[in-house]
Amino acid sequence: MSTNKKNMNVPEKGKLIAKDHRQDYKSVDPNFGPSGEPWSEQVPDIAKSDNHDKYPGGYIIEPPTEDSLKIYDERSANYPIQQKVLDEKYAQLPPEGQGAYHAKSLVEMEDYYTHQRNEFLGYQCAEKFKISKNISPFLNMSLNNIGDPFVNGYFTVNAKQAERGVLDFFASIWHAQWPSLPKPEREASVDDATYLKSPEYKKYKESYWGYVLSMGSTEGNLYAVLSARDYLSGFSLVSDDSEDVSLCLPDIMGEKSTNKYTPVAFYSEAAHYSLAKAVHAMQVKTFAQIANEKIIEQELKKQTEVAYKETENWDCPLGGEWPESVPVDEYGCVKIDELVKLVKFFAEKGYAPFICFNYGTTFKGAYDDIPEACKKLNPIFEANNLVNREVQYFDMDGNPKTDHRRGYWIHVDGALGASLMPFVEMAVENKQLERNDLAPCFDFRNEEVMSLVTSGHKWPDAPAPTGVYMTKNKYLITPVATPDYLGSADTTFAGSRSGLSAMILWNLIAKEGIPGMVDRAKKTMELCSYTYDKFNELQKKLGEFDIWLKRAPHGGTSFIFRKPINDIMFKYSLPIEVEKTKEETRTRKQTYVHLFIFWDRDKEMIDSLINDLGSKDAFDKDSDVYIEIPVSRKKRIQKTKRPVKLLKRSAHKGFR
Ligand SMILES: Cc1ncc(COP(=O)(O)O)c(C=O)c1O
Repeated sequence: MSTNKKNMNVPEKGKLIAKDHRQDYKSVDPNFGPSGEPWSEQVPDIAKSDNHDKYPGGYIIEPPTEDSLKIYDERSANYPIQQKVLDEKYAQLPPEGQGAYHAKSLVEMEDYYTHQRNEFLGYQCAEKFKISKNISPFLNMSLNNIGDPFVNGYFTVNAKQAERGVLDFFASIWHAQWPSLPKPEREASVDDATYLKSPEYKKYKESYWGYVLSMGSTEGNLYAVLSARDYLSGFSLVSDDSEDVSLCLPDIMGEKSTNKYTPVAFYSEAAHYSLAKAVHAMQVKTFAQIANEKIIEQELKKQTEVAYKETENWDCPLGGEWPESVPVDEYGCVKIDELVKLVKFFAEKGYAPFICFNYGTTFKGAYDDIPEACKKLNPIFEANNLVNREVQYFDMDGNPKTDHRRGYWIHVDGALGASLMPFVEMAVENKQLERNDLAPCFDFRNEEVMSLVTSGHKWPDAPAPTGVYMTKNKYLITPVATPDYLGSADTTFAGSRSGLSAMILWNLIAKEGIPGMVDRAKKTMELCSYTYDKFNELQKKLGEFDIWLKRAPHGGTSFIFRKPINDIMFKYSLPIEVEKTKEETRTRKQTYVHLFIFWDRDKEMIDSLINDLGSKDAFDKDSDVYIEIPVSRKKRIQKTKRPVKLLKRSAHKGFR
């Protein structure tokens, strides 16, 4: 413990240390960390000062204002078991470090995590894997893949070679043209047309570009929306003849008033919340936002302009109010006909659609039928000049230039499915697995797909978030910066990027190869069948009591069922989803949970869960409740209808 040599204002235990000069709050001195001694006694001299004018209380660091043990227990009050089993004090870091208690804290943490991961069924990621010991030397260095993955740059302790190995592997299982090719040199004597038609240039444009993510698919989704926004907004492309960074073309061309350069986002109700975050961060509006804004704008004009005449129809093509996102079926697959109607509505108004498909939705694990959707979307793209439209810009010398590119962007969020299903396909194709309902193709075999993302920590496995983002050279936007400092263009989302993640994925693929991955996929699918049978047996045993079992078609790996009691939820780390169904005078609120079958689970885990679910009072009695809408609230709701609703009502009544 610290010797407290300096002239300290040591308060009585649990009492005020000092009134902070910067704000009107008081510090306290709780028992802190695994030793349980007061916080003040664990501050090393180096963090103290005799200059009490500058540092009230004599600390160069900030003392706590509350007992964080108590606060953090309260903040996780809905999840109390973890707090009970793993005491937060082991994680507290006294300013002088944990000293002799450090090893004990590690043991406590390891015990807890090992126990929990052994029963882990709830989320779509592997937990019981063993990282090869041969990776350990790479933990003792900072591998940083900063900058473009295909140019080494000056930061020589990078794992970009391993990253490129991983990317080429994924390009090959996703049917992208690989390796990733550089833009061919252009000889001075060659004219524009000849260069752009040359086989080398065409081959370069078709080949892939991508990078290994430092976050998971969230980063890939963010990057997809950013890329789509700039591509659809008319920013210059790397593949354009111009070497210059783009100018915002629509502004210059005076075309901002048309919708030609306005992206509009379509994603389904089952999409991961990162899509909402991505469009918000990138300031891309969803179809529902645009429609509702237009309706409100029209309504305001109607109220203020006497001679206002409505020229644009903003009634939802699905009838009724605009849904917030594209509707899905009971399994979470996007309703293709509804998507097509929505896209058509906006394409006909000249907007540039960004469409995100799901390949393995977050809760139900559903696979969108991308080929079928594209088949129905293509005529709309063609009819509205979105397949190969002309984009005009000026180069830095002020010369007018044009390129031709798509007026739509299709992204596939394959957080789980894109890394699992290629191996299921190989197993089925080689008759090592019997399935006659293989999920529809999601990858670059679909000409329309422009970007694809998967999370590596979900499948196959990784101890930290990672993943792969992939697109084609022809869709790349000219990077905003090519800092001398890096030696390569700043083409990725992050600055510093995890070389360790690339190394970990590389090491796993190097060890397992495709055969090892196919074995894992087979094991997963076989265990899914076992799990499905076991759930059905349980349902039979429970008779009338419906556990609401659901499994997505095409070999979905998620199993959805009625929420059990909290002890069971905690034991297997099960997450919930609430479904609300509105009825005449009440709302039905059903709470589901799901589990995901992965290669690292086994029959014993499933047997144990089924056994727990079969015991008395295993299910939460609040999993199925009806909430009556109070009469007073019903009246209030009627009074406070949104303008969108007002518009519809008044329009129907011919009221203006
Ligand atoms: C479909 C889907 N997309 C995106 C994500 C986000 O992935 P991550 O948590 O790896 O960022 C998830 C995570 O569960 C997901 O299921």
